[in-house]
Amino acid sequence: MNSFGNKFRLTTFGESHGVAIGGVIDGMPSGVKIDLELVQSEINRRRGGQSVYATPRAEADRIEVFSGIFEGFSTGTPIGFAIYNENQKSKDYESLRDIFRAGHADWGYYQKYAVRDHRGGGRASARETAVRVAGGAFARLLLDSFGVSVKSGVLSVGSVDISGEPDWDLAARSEIFALGAEEAMKAEIMNARNAHDSVGASVLTIAQGVMAGLGEPLYGRLDAALASALMGINGVKAVEIGEGVRASRLRGSENNDNMGENGFLSNHSGGILGGISSGEPIVLKSHFKPTPSIFKPQMTLDKTGAVREYELRGRHDPCIGVRGSVVATAMVRLVLADMLLLNASSKLESLQKLY
Ligand SMILES: Cc1cc2nc3c(=O)[nH]c(=O)nc-3n(C[C@H](O)[C@H](O)[C@H](O)COP(=O)(O)O)c2cc1C
Repeated sequence: MNSFGNKFRLTTFGESHGVAIGGVIDGMPSGVKIDLELVQSEINRRRGGQSVYATPRAEADRIEVFSGIFEGFSTGTPIGFAIYNENQKSKDYESLRDIFRAGHADWGYYQKYAVRDHRGGGRASARETAVRVAGGAFARLLLDSFGVSVKSGVLSVGSVDISGEPDWDLAARSEIFALGAEEAMKAEIMNARNAHDSVGASVLTIAQGVMAGLGEPLYGRLDAALASALMGINGVKAVEIGEGVRASRLRGSENNDNMGENGFLSNHSGGILGGISSGEPIVLKSHFKPTPSIFKPQMTLDKTGAVREYELRGRHDPCIGVRGSVVATAMVRLVLADMLLLNASSKLESLQKLY
């Protein structure tokens, strides 16, 4: 399944070491002003090769758009685009032709497809997430016209947590999108990297300006759709909404969001009640595992079933949550754009306005 969304639908294609990765967006309404520089700047935030805290694989990641835009506005037809792969080093992966790397998609893909695309993880590579970021940037252009904005930052790296409130100004200028404790987080990443290891991280995503009423109960609940979108990012192992896991340790009197004359007095629900947005900010946390590619000896099986010891080479992120935070923003934008379009037919009144 390579398509995501219902009315705002992104289909992606491509592999890590193929000619290009790319996508088609179906469902962008006509008349949306398309700022391709803004789309490119979103893609640039996810690029590797820009600091010691990310993979050294430096791709230009220039988006080329083929269709769906005329004189700076969307036409309502499919937006097709590609990002060419220029810096693939398939030689780094030659020794992996017959083995299944620990913590990677290799084993599962081989069981399912009986093909071992050993070049950089093939389709399972997070290279594909550049397309999600591009798709999310187009979704942003639609959301902007409704005053909906989405941002993400890094809340924790390994054992280092931010103390106090998230600092969004810091995240905006930080090389690792840190919401606090930037130096300690950087040290945690460098310690792991210097030990030929990797480290996990958690990411906070907030959507602001989301109107009340988005979400399609019962089987298209907004919380379920967001959790699915975030869990669908490579390496995400848990997602929380509002109080999240902590809610299971609270009493109702602590967790309920009471209302006063100006609306909600708190936001433990994280902006979603009954699978529908409440009008409060949507608050999400994604938990990323440590990068599976580490440079220590590991044990695995090869295609013949023989036990093999191997040691990886190549270029990798020491902490995938850092660049993963950009992908989290994109996925939330894609879900919200989709829900916005789906919601257009939820009331007779809104349908009548259309016709
Ligand atoms: C933005 C991003 C960058 C990633 N970079 C790497 C990487 O450099 N090396 C690596 O081994 N895994 C990387 N991953 C994680 C793998 O793609 C992922 O763990 C693997 O495909 C297995 O999937 P799973 O962890 O969801 O089971 C990255 C993930 C994301 C979201």
